[in-house]
Amino acid sequence: MEEKKKYSRTLVTTALPYANGPVHIGHLAGVYVPADIYVRYLRLKGEDVLMIGGSDEHGVPITIKAQKEGVTPQDIVDRYHKIIKESMAGLGISFDVYGRTTSDMHRRTASDFFKKLYDNGEFIEKTSEQFYDEEADQWLADRYITGTCPHCGNDGAYGDQCEACGTSLNATDLINPKSAITGNVPVLKETKHWYMPLDKWEPRLRQWILEDHKEWKTNVYGQCKSWLDGGLQPRAVTRDLNWGIPVPIEGAEGKVLYVWFDAPIGYISNTKELRPDDWEKYWKADDTRIIHFIGKDNIVFHCLIFPAMLMAEGTYQLPENVPANEFLNLEGDKISTSRNWAVWLNEYLEDFPGKQDVLRYVLTANAPEAKDNDFTWKDFQDRNNNELVAILGNFVNRAIVLTNKYFDGVIPEAHELTDYDRATIEEFKGVKDELGKALDTFHFRAALAEAMKLARIGNKYLADTEPWKLAKTDMARVETIMNVALQITANLAIAFEPFLPFSAEKLRKMINMECADWNKLGSIDILKAGERVEKPVLLFEKIDDETIKIQTDRLERIKQENILKNFTPKAVAPTVTFDDFQKLDIRVGKVLDCEKVKKADKLLKFTIDDGMKGRTIVSGIAKFYNPEDLIGKEVCFIANFPTRKLKGVESQGMILSAEDADGRLVVIGPQGEVRPGVQVG
Ligand code: MF3
Ligand code: ZN
Repeated sequence: MEEKKKYSRTLVTTALPYANGPVHIGHLAGVYVPADIYVRYLRLKGEDVLMIGGSDEHGVPITIKAQKEGVTPQDIVDRYHKIIKESMAGLGISFDVYGRTTSDMHRRTASDFFKKLYDNGEFIEKTSEQFYDEEADQWLADRYITGTCPHCGNDGAYGDQCEACGTSLNATDLINPKSAITGNVPVLKETKHWYMPLDKWEPRLRQWILEDHKEWKTNVYGQCKSWLDGGLQPRAVTRDLNWGIPVPIEGAEGKVLYVWFDAPIGYISNTKELRPDDWEKYWKADDTRIIHFIGKDNIVFHCLIFPAMLMAEGTYQLPENVPANEFLNLEGDKISTSRNWAVWLNEYLEDFPGKQDVLRYVLTANAPEAKDNDFTWKDFQDRNNNELVAILGNFVNRAIVLTNKYFDGVIPEAHELTDYDRATIEEFKGVKDELGKALDTFHFRAALAEAMKLARIGNKYLADTEPWKLAKTDMARVETIMNVALQITANLAIAFEPFLPFSAEKLRKMINMECADWNKLGSIDILKAGERVEKPVLLFEKIDDETIKIQTDRLERIKQENILKNFTPKAVAPTVTFDDFQKLDIRVGKVLDCEKVKKADKLLKFTIDDGMKGRTIVSGIAKFYNPEDLIGKEVCFIANFPTRKLKGVESQGMILSAEDADGRLVVIGPQGEVRPGVQVG
């Protein structure tokens, strides 16, 4: 076994969210909640740790949003930086610093970093052709160009990516490129940029990740390996844009640093902001550990590009680990800022005051650690009611209530322990090791389950020993039981502090425990007999169906709005004459009978009164209707189609239908009563 490296301090960084919208549960589950658990855990152990966060305030999505709203990019980032910073604090994400990439400190730091690499000859200069909008007199960043995806034919693909098929693109790959500013066809013009020669660093990156960091999470390691095996290419680190940090060299007017060059340097700037005098030891000392918490879309930047930048700079430590998470979905669909398909943190805090820990709990229990995962409001309610209330809350409440009831709030002494007591204590002794092991290896779901196990043990202990039945006969025994139960309660206050800091604090206050000390976890003499507990305070309360329905109704509304928004009617078909129209014989008929066609789950068989001898029509709408509901209805059908056989049934025509907003087919019929057989025209 390889000897574990000793370290004296840990620098935890969290991906800097773009300040173009509030943060949502996907950001939280992927990055901020796990990072916060980890940092709180290290602090509990008394380690030297800094948690660095901040807003990413450059990048094209911000300028596009500003343009849409008719405000400046600075207005946009000021607005969202504030919202993000406040809501993160509201959820108890305990940053030591939450900075921003428009600060002077950051501008200087990123600029100097670039300059140093430039002076050391670490960049290559290249001239290439880029799209330019002549009418707007502006270079077009990738996001400002739309066109047809060469892979899937989607008309709305962006210059860097097709969101329909997920392929990453170059703007010049697009078929029929258009400027998103004027709609004009852009022209190609030559422009000079600076590139990081990632190919130069490839051998070192290979060694560092593929050989020296085999312990990284498989999703992270695998993604790095596939990038490395594909061969790294030089990457442009400058852009033709007017929002960003100016490229600090002559002849680069109108150019800025690429947002992915400056943003990770934000971790450094924000550390400087926090610790102006000794920031360097957190980045450069070899007994420092740097851990980047990110989502999976950030892996290449944190594992390959930023490390290459740090290698080129030469004086920084590389990250020790990058425990990236997969994605969290919402009610089965991908979270999307532009489609408003998200649970926004600032809204959650307003809708569920005092319930920060419920969200933290659910997001941890469901964290997308190894694969994408789904958040549903039903699961949120169930976990609150069946786990937080029924297990953790219930146990704590019983322990405190009974202590108040039998001992007037004074912690009783433990007398002789029974075998059962000892077995119970034995069971939770191991929790510290198990919990520590899971947290050390970034398995936060498993860690939470471990903490929850402690609450389950407590619950079972009280249920099995039934002190309320012994109160009249054997008070000495009740004293022992309640002492053990209170020691378990104290253990819970420690174990849950990283996960549920608000509830852990309430709990500590209830048992008058000043601070949580990780080293005491697992022991049964944390609380001293003779000291007092306070009156009980409920840690969690049930969440009812109505509260959940408000949330699911909101999502349902958004879904409907999106369906309407995303609908563009098809182009009108070529002109036809009235004669052409009259060739189609469209008629009204009455449904006499309707039934499913056997062995065909899509087909319905209609018997239609057509005013003549009647006819049978088969239609592919079985998924959308109960056959009985259609009997007696009037429908429109085409009467002069050739007869064809569908699953053995002769169909004499076609019933007209149209697609509704959910993609379901709706049968078309007259608005008033019409005689069967009448022509439509
Ligand atoms: N803003 C980026 C995103 O949301 C993350 C930037 S992380 C940093 O995907 F390293 F650049 F800071
Ligand atoms: Zn595509």
